[in-house]
Amino acid sequence: MNPISINSEAFSILRLLTDGVFHTESALTKQLGYSDVNITNALKDINRLGIEIINLSGYGYCWRNPILWLNLNSILENPADNSKYYHIKILDSIDSTNNYLINGIDGYYCNNNYIPVVAAEFQTNGRGRQGHTWHTGLGDSLTFSLRWYFEKNASALSGLSLVIGIAIVRVLKYFSISDVNLKWPNDIYYNSQKLAGVLIETRRETLTSIFAVIGIGINFNLSEIVKSSIGRKVTDLLEITGKCLNRNLIFGILLSELHDVLINFEKYGFTYFKKEWISYHAYEGKSITLNLPNNCVIEGTVDGVNNDGSLCLITSMGRASFSVGAISMRMK
Ligand code: BTN
Repeated sequence: MNPISINSEAFSILRLLTDGVFHTESALTKQLGYSDVNITNALKDINRLGIEIINLSGYGYCWRNPILWLNLNSILENPADNSKYYHIKILDSIDSTNNYLINGIDGYYCNNNYIPVVAAEFQTNGRGRQGHTWHTGLGDSLTFSLRWYFEKNASALSGLSLVIGIAIVRVLKYFSISDVNLKWPNDIYYNSQKLAGVLIETRRETLTSIFAVIGIGINFNLSEIVKSSIGRKVTDLLEITGKCLNRNLIFGILLSELHDVLINFEKYGFTYFKKEWISYHAYEGKSITLNLPNNCVIEGTVDGVNNDGSLCLITSMGRASFSVGAISMRMK
């Protein structure tokens, strides 16, 4: 759990301070109807998150580098009409957007005509693969999940997470971020540093249908506090491009790309994407070690992926396939 949570007072203050000009404490209390104590406590929480609010006596408070808040209309309109397919909910703060759609909070997922999507400005308990925590701060990332129904067995979904990686790479390439690549099964890397991740969780709905909650996190401009809490090399789009990219625009285009790939995945399976996926794989033809969940370590050379998305390795014992495991480079 993120030790810091942000309450609704803090969000209201931040929204007021988004204009980047000074607001006195009395103006804040008057506009928001909160007590001085509430304002002071909320500002302390904001500060602990690494958000820099300048406090100048006589002038008040100013947020010098405010975030660009997620905006439903921009997301729906870009690039085409995403409202045809999606029902999008934007939350200020939630434990995890995946939890939200797995547990079906609000019965929000029940409208079968639309694909439910939930995005959050801040996750207090963002989850990564293999039980890891997914660390982000307020508005410094794109963190969202969508829920998709499949009339298939769980086994038919084995290549799904790889296909989601393709959608993310395609969209980043569209924004001229060309050197992004994938690490099997679905990590998105730039220069050997993690830029984005995908967490897919499935649940059986009926005997013949299953739903997948597809959670995506893309780093936009992580603060030093967040970066140092991650404990491994990470990067973000600000570091890569030198620009503050528009989260709403990228989100809109990504949703539309995800819709395309999911439709094609349903129709044709992973085979349809295999060649493209291999072309993005950072480890194709490389000597690697694969750490299996049972602590076994396999050494081999990567030789593509199978039609179900499992990894092919040429090992000393011959060619073998793996559907789980974590790749690391083999030391020479
Ligand atoms: C990974 O370990 O690489 C997967 C990271 C997935 C993070 C995203 S952020 C949105 C969604 N909600 C979560 O709690 N996790 C996923």
